[in-house]
Parts: sequence; C-alpha cells; structure tokens
Amino acid sequence: MTIILDPDRVWIDGCFDFTHHGHAGAILQARQTVSKENGKLFCGVHTDHDIQHNKGSPVMNSQERYEHTRANRWCSEVVEAAPYVTDPDWMDRYQCQYVVHGDDITLDANGEDCYKVVKEMGRFKVVKRTYGVSTTEIIHRILTNNTLAPTHPDYYANTQELGFYSVAEDAVSKHCYVFQKDLSNVLVSGGYDFNVGDCVYVDGDFDLFHMGDIDQLRKLKMDLHPDKKLIVGITTNDYSSTIMTMKERSLSVLSCRYVDAVIINADADALAQCNWKKYRIDTAVLTEGGNFSEYLTKDVIVKRIESRRDVY
Ligand code: CTP
Repeated sequence: MTIILDPDRVWIDGCFDFTHHGHAGAILQARQTVSKENGKLFCGVHTDHDIQHNKGSPVMNSQERYEHTRANRWCSEVVEAAPYVTDPDWMDRYQCQYVVHGDDITLDANGEDCYKVVKEMGRFKVVKRTYGVSTTEIIHRILTNNTLAPTHPDYYANTQELGFYSVAEDAVSKHCYVFQKDLSNVLVSGGYDFNVGDCVYVDGDFDLFHMGDIDQLRKLKMDLHPDKKLIVGITTNDYSSTIMTMKERSLSVLSCRYVDAVIINADADALAQCNWKKYRIDTAVLTEGGNFSEYLTKDVIVKRIESRRDVY
C-alpha cells in the first residue's frame, strides 16, 4: 500500500512528564512547522512502562500525561502509547513526514539515539529546546526545597516569552491577553476585543500546574461558561510557598487550551472591584466530577515525589 505523507501533518513525541513550559515550547514550535490554516500536530506520548524501562519512573502516570498533553492549545491529537524509539511506521499511520524534537539527544535503554532511524531517513527536524526547565530539575527543586526568589532575573517571563506563548491553536495568530496585577497594565494584547462583561475569572497560584487544575479550568470554560472568556489570575502569595517561578506558572497556564487571558501577580483586592462573576479555583463545584481534580493536588504530587526519594 502506498502511503501518502501530508506535509501539513507533523509528529512530536516524548514522555511529557509534568508537561512543563519547555514541553509546551517544543509543541508550539512543532505546530509552527506546518501551515497555520490546515496544519495538524500529532503528539505521541509514551507509556509508563516504556519510560520506566528507558529513562526511569515518571512522576505523572500515563493518563495524567495523555490528558495534560491533550489540553495543550497547539496539540491537534494525542497518540497514546507511542513507542519510545520513534518508529516511522507510526508516523506513516498519521501521514506525518517529519518528527520534531528539541536540540538535545534522547537515548534509549541501550544508549542508542531514539531518533537514529528517522534521522537517517531525513524525517527529523530540530527546534530550540527551552533551557532552564526540566522534569529532573523540578523534582530536585522539590526534594531540596530550593526555590527562586522574585528578585532573581529569571523569576518573571519577559513580554517576548509571554507573547510567544499567547498565540492561538494555529500557533501564529494572537489569542491570550496578558495583564499585570489588574486590568490596567496590558503586557500582551490578545486576538479579540476585551470586554469585562464577557469574562469569568478564576485565580490561584497554579504551582506545579497539573491535571487537577486543568480539569477545573476545563469545567469553567467548557461546561459552565462556554460563551465567556476565561481569565486566569496567577497569585503571588509568599514566593517561598511556590515551587515554580511566576514565569513557569504563567507560561504553563498560557499553553492550556481553556485559557483566554492571564493576570500575572493577580491582586485579589484590585480584581474584586471588577464586576466579574468570580469563582475560586478551590471551590467544591470545580473539584467534583473531574477525573483528576477529585484527587490530584500539588500536595499529592509533592508526596508522590518524596515517597520515591530513593528513585529520584
Ligand atoms: N523539551 C524542550 N525543552 C525542555 C524539555 C523538553 O524543548 N526544557 C522537548 C524535548 O526536546 C522533546 C519534547 O520536549 O522534543 C519532549 O521531551 P520529553 O521526552 O518529555 O523529555 P525530556 O527532553 O527529557 O524533558 P525533561 O528533561 O523535562 O523530562
């Protein structure tokens, strides 16, 4: 059978453990390699068993990783249980000519390059890896209680980074607004006419942004208020109580498909002045009925990591 590869379909694969903004950056860049209008990005996500065998036990289980990747704004389709060593037959199945990967080398359990075969076939494209974030480093930070202070130059994302992650599903058009503190300071302007009356607002620190959070955002946006724009306020709190920097939290939230605007350092008092219907992220209504939100919290993740201290 002749396989017709479609230049508008591209493949990316990985563990996507914690699905942090480095993964989101690779997914976004991969989506940019195909056309804005008709491009499709297939995200192959490996099983727990394959990751355990080749790299070591993931923190997030396969269902959590599949769904988190599915919630990424630039991912057109998740391919579950994709092989750890990239298999051109799987890419053919989805008519993808190329696989995209960050500019680092990924080895399998035998020390072989996972992309050797597809590189030899000329079906490999490289995008820029996001430096300064990795699953291993986040685990280390949790285990050593080592967090960055807001005075650190990397604590906040700059407007260029915020703008990069604010784009729509097509990975090009403007989408999310980004505000600072309240609505008076626009850092990035979005792709629609902003009108407070058309919005619902939710806030939280969104530390270790995970499927429990995403379930809640999905419920707000898709079930409760499908006609409204969802604004997510990321609160500052006491910085030492958050493991992730504001940059990591804001870029992760921006890459979630249910989000239409983000307020960095959201000031609850200032926002309470707004005439918005306000939902707190931790209300029972947002937690109940979610496959993940009923059990997954930041504390659960931290405990999971601490209980495997010897493995990590
Ligand atoms: N990636 C990236 N920037 C990062 C981390 C990952 O661009 N900081 C890219 C990888 O290059 C790959 C994709 O994200 O194309 C999925 O990576 P994954 O298989 O999940 O694993 P790692 O590269 O090992 O990521 P991490 O170290 O965070 O686990």
